[in-house]
Amino acid sequence: MKVFIAGFGTVGQGVTEVIASREEFFNKRYGQSIKIVGVMDSSTYVTDSGGLDPLKLVSVKKETGKVGKEKYTDALKILDSVDYDTLIEVSPTDYKTGGQGLKNIIHALETKKDVITTNKGPLAIKFGELIALAKKNKCKLKFEGTVAGAMPIINLCHDNLIGENIQSIRGILNGTCNYILSKMDNGQPFDQALKEAQQLGYAETDPSGDVEGYDSACKVVILANSVFDRNVTLSDVSITGITGITEEAVSLAKSRDMVIRLIGEVGEEKLEVAPRLVPKGHPLAVSGTLNAAQIRSDLAGPITISGRGAGRMETASAVLSDLISVMDDRKE
Ligand code: HSE
Repeated sequence: MKVFIAGFGTVGQGVTEVIASREEFFNKRYGQSIKIVGVMDSSTYVTDSGGLDPLKLVSVKKETGKVGKEKYTDALKILDSVDYDTLIEVSPTDYKTGGQGLKNIIHALETKKDVITTNKGPLAIKFGELIALAKKNKCKLKFEGTVAGAMPIINLCHDNLIGENIQSIRGILNGTCNYILSKMDNGQPFDQALKEAQQLGYAETDPSGDVEGYDSACKVVILANSVFDRNVTLSDVSITGITGITEEAVSLAKSRDMVIRLIGEVGEEKLEVAPRLVPKGHPLAVSGTLNAAQIRSDLAGPITISGRGAGRMETASAVLSDLISVMDDRKE
């Protein structure tokens, strides 16, 4: 299995470390390890068809701020410059146009490569087209890491709950907002809590996407399209972020034994992101950077899951599960 990693920030480096740390596992399960044959960050790249040393890639990035010595202007040319099986697309997200990530994913699928991505923008904008392209070219497009990081919501719905009629999903899908709101529960001001969420590496490069609700809305779109088989985009979601939540509102909620949480919801009639009052002790009243979701289906009833929705190793955990799924399919 030869992989190309597009994007070498927090997630790309985490995935690379996981590929290194799971070498024995891959060898045991598949009789082969994973070769990283190419990596690019926003301006440089490095390729080697014989395989790059994963830990060296991470240390070079740490020391120099760049993954390679060579600069590039055309990412697609770099993708074409080396033979690989699977693109791991983990570049920064662009909610508005899909950005370079969307171009990379389309190009990889057009050239019949499997794609694993954590990049929300491209999927929120072009979900239907990307799935159709993958199907046409008989490729896999896996995206567990786009929604709630390490919390396995997509594959849970696709695999374990496959025969169920899923009626709704309601949950906390943005760790940054949850961190801010739970710090506000303890009297910390919004701006200070946001700064801390940025320091923890949870917030997006531009955190307005988090606090204005767009990040959660992208996840709502991805869930609606992938779990509910809908064909919706961001403009179909009613979005209210948390920038209007005042310290007074949080205190008032507290006095009634409630907390305010930013809830994303997909239901038959609903496609919404909005701050909601949640009773303390409710499964969705989680604190810190945790994500949580309640899935309701006809046979199982409510299932609640909770986990870390972002972070280096947490998101790499979602990529690892997709990688194993792609490799299992290739094995058959
Ligand atoms: N900015 C996102 C969050 C990262 O805070 O949840 C994970 O998608």
